Amino acid sequence: MKNLHNKNILLGITGSIAAYKAAELVSNLIKNGANVKVIMTKASTSFITEKTLECISKNKVMIDESEHDDSFLHLDLSKWADIMLIAPCTANTLNKIVSGLGDDLLSTSCLAFKNKIYLAPAMNPNMWNNTILQKNLENISKDKFEIIGPDYGNHACGDIGYGRMSSPQTIIDQLSKSLGYAALDGIKILVTAGPTREPIDPVRFISNYSSGKMGYAIAEHARDLGADVKLISGPVKLDKPERVSCKDVETSTEMFEEVINSISNYDIFISAAAISDYRPSNTLNHKHKTEDGELNINLVRGRDILKTAKIINSEVFAVGFSAETKNIRNNAKLKLKEKGIDMIIANEANHQKGLGFESDHNEIIIIDENEIIPVAMNTKKELAKVIINKIVSKFKCNIIKIKNAR
Ligand SMILES: Cc1cc2nc3c(=O)[nH]c(=O)nc-3n(C[C@H](O)[C@H](O)[C@H](O)COP(=O)(O)O)c2cc1C
Repeated sequence: MKNLHNKNILLGITGSIAAYKAAELVSNLIKNGANVKVIMTKASTSFITEKTLECISKNKVMIDESEHDDSFLHLDLSKWADIMLIAPCTANTLNKIVSGLGDDLLSTSCLAFKNKIYLAPAMNPNMWNNTILQKNLENISKDKFEIIGPDYGNHACGDIGYGRMSSPQTIIDQLSKSLGYAALDGIKILVTAGPTREPIDPVRFISNYSSGKMGYAIAEHARDLGADVKLISGPVKLDKPERVSCKDVETSTEMFEEVINSISNYDIFISAAAISDYRPSNTLNHKHKTEDGELNINLVRGRDILKTAKIINSEVFAVGFSAETKNIRNNAKLKLKEKGIDMIIANEANHQKGLGFESDHNEIIIIDENEIIPVAMNTKKELAKVIINKIVSKFKCNIIKIKNAR
């Protein structure tokens, strides 16, 4: 998951026994694409070493402002950060910062930070239930602070109750959700990618130049936004995306069956595969040899996967791709209508110009019944973000329309 891609996270670590979990937290934040700088309170250094956090974050860990050349370190750090998170957050630091006090690098950075601050408390149940702490929590500004956890469970001291720091993954999930980076949380998306192969004989087939890169980038980005993604892929040379359910198919008939069997379980269907429109009416059982003479292949139309899928599940938000070599907009608009789908991504398929198939780049036009949005040349990974953002906003409007119509 890379839903914190390029986000600057200032992580405060305080003097709780749960500080050992901060190593995993920093590591997971980085795996999610974030840049992490760590501020430790003096008390936290008894629980985890500065060196460990420096090695994992790949940034100098900061404890005391006076040890650094930068005279305005707390101001510079608070400007650098997109997100501020304190995990674990002790009772002391929690009470201090929600009261607006600043007596060390972490609390002064909090005072200077303009956006919301995320706190993951970690403390003994009696400390968590302390009336002053609970009163402070009741009074905090919800715009300024968001509390993540704490969880219920066993504590190192032997007590049982609320106060355990949430797991690093829970913290990241809640952070992503709250920041709107999990816009597709709970949404099921079916994506197809790559070409199909239509066999002529056991060694030959009809196919196309599709690399699958666009569909794979879409599947990965949808997953990063929290969607539950299934990817049905034709034969491609790409690594399977992590945490996406993948199914390999070869022919357009296999692709048809896999999509049609799955479609009822999905909210959004993105058909990015370059499915062969035609297939040989007959596949030879043995290789056609040169001495067998001329080979005439009769091609028949394959079944329309996108159109059929939308008929079977009329509530699915269906998105097609239209690779055209001429009249791109008009042909794509006709396709949108003819297939009864919700959105079409049109592009010029020109292998010679390095656009579309196989290339890492593309130039697209997003078309639905109300809008035509040209999107300038970019990498397929960046285009996947633009496409998914557009789908998210249209899909959410559609849900509201469907609910109002009921
Ligand atoms: C072994 C030990 C474990 C502690 N664990 C916690 C804890 O989990 N949560 C907490 O709020 N305070 C805990 N404390 C107390 C804090 O370390 C203490 O309040 C400290 O001043 C916090 O400073 P800081 O908020 O600047 O990091 C613990 C103290 C000790 C000695």
